[in-house]
Amino acid sequence: MQMDVDDGDVSGWDENDMDVDDFVGVKHRRSNMISPSVSMMDVDVGRARNLLTSQWNDIAQASGAAEITIVNEVDDEAIPPIPEGFVYVESGYTYPPELKPPEIIDDLFLRCDCASCMDASSCECQDLVSVMDSLGRKIYAYHKNGFYNFEYPQGSIVVECNKFCKCPTNHCRNRVAQKPRDIPIQVFKTLGRGWGVCSTTLIRKGKVLGMYGGTIITRAHAESLDEEAKSYCFDLDGQEMMNEGPTDNSESYSVDGRTCGNWTRFLNHSCSPNLQAYQVVYDTIPEMNRPYIAFAALRQIDPREELTIDYDPAGAIQPTANRKSKAPSGATPCRCASKKCRGWVKSIS
Ligand SMILES: C[S@@+](CC[C@H](N)C(=O)[O-])C[C@H]1O[C@@H](n2cnc3c(N)ncnc32)[C@H](O)[C@@H]1O
Ligand SMILES: [Zn+2]
Ligand SMILES: [Zn+2]
Ligand SMILES: [Zn+2]
Repeated sequence: MQMDVDDGDVSGWDENDMDVDDFVGVKHRRSNMISPSVSMMDVDVGRARNLLTSQWNDIAQASGAAEITIVNEVDDEAIPPIPEGFVYVESGYTYPPELKPPEIIDDLFLRCDCASCMDASSCECQDLVSVMDSLGRKIYAYHKNGFYNFEYPQGSIVVECNKFCKCPTNHCRNRVAQKPRDIPIQVFKTLGRGWGVCSTTLIRKGKVLGMYGGTIITRAHAESLDEEAKSYCFDLDGQEMMNEGPTDNSESYSVDGRTCGNWTRFLNHSCSPNLQAYQVVYDTIPEMNRPYIAFAALRQIDPREELTIDYDPAGAIQPTANRKSKAPSGATPCRCASKKCRGWVKSIS
């Protein structure tokens, strides 16, 4: 849609006739007809933000998720610079025409008939999972209160109860990531790291916040993208639990959150992150290599404290991790301000 606001006539301008793409990149529009205290730019910024917020909230609400707000106290950028036609999807993956969603064959799923899934060793859907606590007892990835158990080894795929399990959905401690997000989210403009994410409420350690959303692409496709596009891709390593990685790039996948995704695409990197990403399945099995990526709070997080992940967790455990090293190719300077800053931000992996 063509907009001409330089003549200062806003009377025939109905924001219902517009979509968010009309606002992408819109910053300065001033009008003499508006009082000096409320500039045309403020009106535009407000409209663009309200429109995008309401579009995203309609979709979030439809899936039972909590509110999303967009805030910028740093400059006059109305909304995050999303590509034209960006589609907000609160949960689940979308598929491009060349890739098919995995076939859900009933027989492939292990299923339990627990009354409330309290004991992982007798919960049949956990039969192929062998994660134990320090006392050698088989454990779920979640405590009884639904908070993530950090005893669960990083890299192990979490297998939640599935639609074939007979346990009651609301009294099963093993259905957490699959539940709608109940933490309100604010997408806000940071100082020097573009847009980021926080919550308006206190988050307790172990709280599971939500899952990375986007379009499934092959790893080979993800690797062919330019650095900017790559920075919105999350690699899925579906078979890690089986100790046998996918055989080639056409069998391993990434999730591309650039043109279709949710609030998690705005999660910035920190070398001292407050969220941990983990892989979880409930509507596929691990062998299908398409787990979801869920995010759990590593510690208590204050309201409005930025939520961050480590884009390169392997980099954190290298011997040089606490020293600023030479920039890897495609990396940008890290502005996480952590005392342990490694100096560079790589693409999410
Ligand atoms: C997945 S996006 C995160 C959202 C992004 N800030 C935005 O405004 O859309 C990843 C990009 O954010 C920026 N970024 C994330 N963490 C950063 C950090 N610690 N320091 C500097 N830039 C960062 C980099 O440009 C990176 O390529
Ligand atoms: Zn069970
Ligand atoms: Zn089950
Ligand atoms: Zn850093």
